[in-house]
Amino acid sequence: MKLFLDTADLGEVRWASQAGLIDGVTTNPTLLNQHAGDVEPHDVLKEICSLVDGPVSAEVVAVDAEGMYREARELAKLGENIVVKIPMLEDGLVAVRRLTADGIKTNVTLAFSSVQCLLAAKAGATFVSPFLGRLDDIGHDSMEIVREARLIFDNYGLETEILAASIRHPRHVAEAAMVGADVATIPTGVLKKLLLHPLTDRGLDKFLNDWSKLVARTRVNVES
Ligand code: G3P
Repeated sequence: MKLFLDTADLGEVRWASQAGLIDGVTTNPTLLNQHAGDVEPHDVLKEICSLVDGPVSAEVVAVDAEGMYREARELAKLGENIVVKIPMLEDGLVAVRRLTADGIKTNVTLAFSSVQCLLAAKAGATFVSPFLGRLDDIGHDSMEIVREARLIFDNYGLETEILAASIRHPRHVAEAAMVGADVATIPTGVLKKLLLHPLTDRGLDKFLNDWSKLVARTRVNVES
């Protein structure tokens, strides 16, 4: 499964990309508002595109088909790896069809059911993003959506990639991988939690400590 970083923070993107931990980045208007400061959002997106060797999702804010299409064409000029995020709306799917015909990659966002995922795939979306955390927040079983979408896509040979989004914790990542999501986009805090385990730290401390004891002892032996 591919891992994308869900952020618009350039420092986080630089770190994860240089560490070879990520295959792409997703942003949204909320993340840009949190991290862009006074910098023009398109400049932030351009910079992210240059830092990452993989798809970078940038979202339109128009909500009509023509507006989304025009905005998407502008966003696509920011980098060769731009994927345009389009909200799961009737007009959004119209825009996705036109953009797909133009060869522009799309990510249908704000999907909350497997049938919405099916519609996005039929429109030709490159990715569709079911929002797991937001579904779990209201008492749904988000993983069921991913499981159903996987089955539907496999039944009909639909090539749209299932991009598990709104990830809150490492279990979301593990479960999304087990039910066959193609990608998980994760916040930096969750990526760090994927890396860490207290037993790894404790185990390493013991190995290093025991090695120091061995070195100290063998040095004593050599000297005596
Ligand atoms: O990028 C879309 C999605 O990952 C947002 O997550 O935490 O705002 O529900 P969240």
